[in-house]
Amino acid sequence: MIQLTKDWVIRQFQEHDLESVVEINRQCLPENYPDRFFLGLHYHAPKAFLVAEKEDAIVGYIMCRIERGISSFGRLPTKKGHIVSVAVLPEFRHQGIGSDLVEQGIDGMIDYGASEFFLEVRKANKSAISMYENFGFELKRVLKGYYRDGEDAYLMVMGLDESSEEDSD
Ligand SMILES: CC(C)(COP(=O)(O)OP(=O)(O)OC[C@H]1O[C@@H](n2cnc3c(N)ncnc32)[C@H](O)[C@@H]1OP(=O)(O)O)[C@@H](O)C(=O)NCCC(=O)NCCS
Repeated sequence: MIQLTKDWVIRQFQEHDLESVVEINRQCLPENYPDRFFLGLHYHAPKAFLVAEKEDAIVGYIMCRIERGISSFGRLPTKKGHIVSVAVLPEFRHQGIGSDLVEQGIDGMIDYGASEFFLEVRKANKSAISMYENFGFELKRVLKGYYRDGEDAYLMVMGLDESSEEDSD
């Protein structure tokens, strides 16, 4: 059944959330990191490291990095927002929490000047790919053997839709 009310909050990660976020990352993804990696991303782009809180517990997170590089849509150098990791605990999925994290994570990256976004996702991860496609992410290329276990990744990219940029007038 479609749930219409949003009964979670998205807020910036704080250092006391570290244990919960590390645990969600371990439960949900094979790509795990030392504490300093999470904290490094928090210091780097605090507005784009967010947690979802529901029933007084952290149930999901997104963390992102701002990188400079050649645009995926042209040849000019640009600021790109990289979705490094996003996850929602299994019992809280299919309510819109993952999409809310991605939407607000993108807003955070826009605040740092990113005008396009990219991510790597396992080729077999249908639910994540479908969520990203709903935002307008498109397959840019296949990264052969990207993951430690040899699975390929899809590199997905999305440009900022100019119609969604704030009016400068
Ligand atoms: C990918 C992931 C973050 C998505 O989280 P989520 O909270 O389930 O995401 P959403 O609820 O926004 O969307 C998931 C689906 O639920 C549907 N949905 C959203 N709100 C809904 C609602 N109120 N009622 C019913 N269905 C709903 C969405 O339409 C979407 O359907 P689709 O997959 O057919 O497009 C989650 O599956 C996850 O943590 N996976 C493991 C970690 C992972 O793979 N991370 C990505 C690595 S790149």
